This record gives sequence, C-alpha cells and structure tokens, in this order.
Amino acid sequence: MRDTDVNMDLSETLLAWYDVHARHLPWRVQPGAGTADPYRVWMSEIMLQQTTVAAVKAYFEAFTTRWPTVWDLAAAEDADVMAAWAGLGYYARARNLLKCARMVVSDFDGEFPSDRVELQKLPGVGPYTSAAIAAIAFGASETVVDGNVERVMARLRGIEAPLPLAKPELVAAAEALTPMARAGDYAQAVMDLGATICSPKSPACGICPWRDPCIARAQGRAAELPRKLPKAQKPTRIGIAYIARREDGAFLLETRPAKGLLGGMLGWPSTDWTEETPKAAPPLQADWWDPGLEIRHTFTHFHLRMQVFLADVPIEAVPDRGRFVSKHQFKPTALPTVMKKAISVATPWPARD
Ligand code: ADE
Repeated sequence: MRDTDVNMDLSETLLAWYDVHARHLPWRVQPGAGTADPYRVWMSEIMLQQTTVAAVKAYFEAFTTRWPTVWDLAAAEDADVMAAWAGLGYYARARNLLKCARMVVSDFDGEFPSDRVELQKLPGVGPYTSAAIAAIAFGASETVVDGNVERVMARLRGIEAPLPLAKPELVAAAEALTPMARAGDYAQAVMDLGATICSPKSPACGICPWRDPCIARAQGRAAELPRKLPKAQKPTRIGIAYIARREDGAFLLETRPAKGLLGGMLGWPSTDWTEETPKAAPPLQADWWDPGLEIRHTFTHFHLRMQVFLADVPIEAVPDRGRFVSKHQFKPTALPTVMKKAISVATPWPARD
C-alpha cells in the first residue's frame, strides 16, 4: 500500500471508533452529522484554550443560554461578560471574545468567515483555533494540533525528539493523517483519543483503535512519550490584598486595568505582586490589620502568595481607589479565582481582639 492509503486507513479506523465512542459535549453534533454552528464552535474553542473540557461545560451552557447568538453576545455589557467568565481564567480570552463577537457582527453581518486566514484576523483566534473552527464548523480539511494531538502523534509515530523542538515533526505527522472528508469529526476524534485512551500517564493501549500501528506501544514506551525539555521553575511573587468591609456590609472592590493580568476583572485592591516585599498600597485610610491570613495561587508564569489584610470602615469612608459594592450586589462568583480565595479565607470575618 502507498503511504497515503495507509494514512487513509488509519484515519478511517479512528473515525469508525469515534462513531461509537465520541464524547457527548454540548457544542458538538453527532458523529457523521456534518458541521456544527460556527458561533458555538468558536465559543467552545475559545473557552477550551488552556482549560479542561470538564471545567468548560457549565460555562459554555451558561453563555449560550444567556447569549444564544453572536448578535446577543455582541450587544452584551462588558462587565456582565467578564463576571460570567469569572473562574475560567486567562481573562484576555473574555475581552477578546466580546471584541470578536462585535467584529463578526459589524464586519461580517453576523456570519463567521469560513476561511482559516480570514478567521485568524479575528481577535483571540490564532492558528490552532482557526483550524478547529474551519474543520469543525465548516468541514475544511484543516489539521488541528493541541496537546492531546501532539501526544497521540508522538506515540503513534514513535517521535523521540522532546517538545517543544518536536513540534514541526508532530504537526507534519498530524497533517499527513488529516482526511479530506469529515475533517471536523476527525479532529475531535484525535482529541477524544488523547483525552480518554492515549492519556498522559497511563494510556489504555489495550483498547486503542490504533494499538496495532502504534510504534511506542510496540516498544512498550507509550507512557514515556512525548519527551519534554525541562521547564524553567516559576518564581514566587508576594502581595497584599486589602478587604475593606463597610458598616452596612458593603465591600470595597476595584476593576483591574484592562491591560495586564486579570485585566478588566473585578477584584480586591492590592499591592503590586513582586518577588521583593511589595510596597504597602491600601486603597483607603483605615485601621488595617493583619489577621495572619494567606492564600496561594499559581498563574502561568509565577506562584503568588498573598496576605489578606482587613479593615472595618465607617459608612462615610471615601476610598482613594475602587468602589463599594453593596452586600446584595456583591457576588463572589463574579470574581476571578485568586480573589475568591481571598474572601473565602476571610469568611467568616475573623474577630479582632
Ligand atoms: N479541546 C479543544 N477543542 C475541543 C473539542 N472540540 N472537543 C474536545 N476537546 C477539545
């Protein structure tokens, strides 16, 4: 058989497996049913960037129920979208989500472009996401390569070079297998294989549809691949969050600057987060106290250890920055996770003796 025939054989075997074993996910259509709604595919792919399927499902349902079309989302208030995104992380994605929805409405009359190059001109849509949308929503024969796909390809083809050096070889391996027909199903089939069978630590090779052609399995080394170059250690930064509670139960919150970490999200006023002891930066004059509370949170590039300082302030307190949010309007669910952690360690509010 020619290489291309062998590859077609492989993709057909995987599609047959997918027909039976596809995960039922809210943004998908049934295997073999064709393409899915571009708005829902785009939304799911943005949410799934750097976030697990398990975490995304509920957010996807909430967003598409509240904003069922790109027109609805484009007309939403920024603060509502940011609050609904709270907890998913990587908040630039939420800002881009809104920008993109508005651009699709204003420049494309509400229809997502089908072409990869056009898709990549949209905010938040890079090479990976454009390939996923083109394949899943429009049936284009595009190759989608995420971490799952890299792992599957490294094992199937026995690719020894470590990531990230191996990337071009892994992409080429994935491209060679991408079929002309059912490219969206195929892309999701490889993802499902990687998520359910060809898992990082203990792959279930015995039930894998690609067990026979898999080089790593034949050598008993599936779990060792892909190799990875050691990652640089993350530094630890420290900071102080200031939680001021007013007599009437209102809390002092601040919308973070649009650019930068947690940009545009609501949070507790805080110092800068630095590797050296940060400079005190209370958001209002008060009798601040340190009850010995500390939270830890890991971001992409650093670990954060943040002390939580508290103050009870009178009704007439005027903050230097931020604004008081009433007890009834305060929703911890609208806060990013690190900020939620800060209020949870201060709940119940500790007694000061
Ligand atoms: N990860 C990224 N996109 C996905 C999809 N469409 N299905 C499952 N997992 C994914």
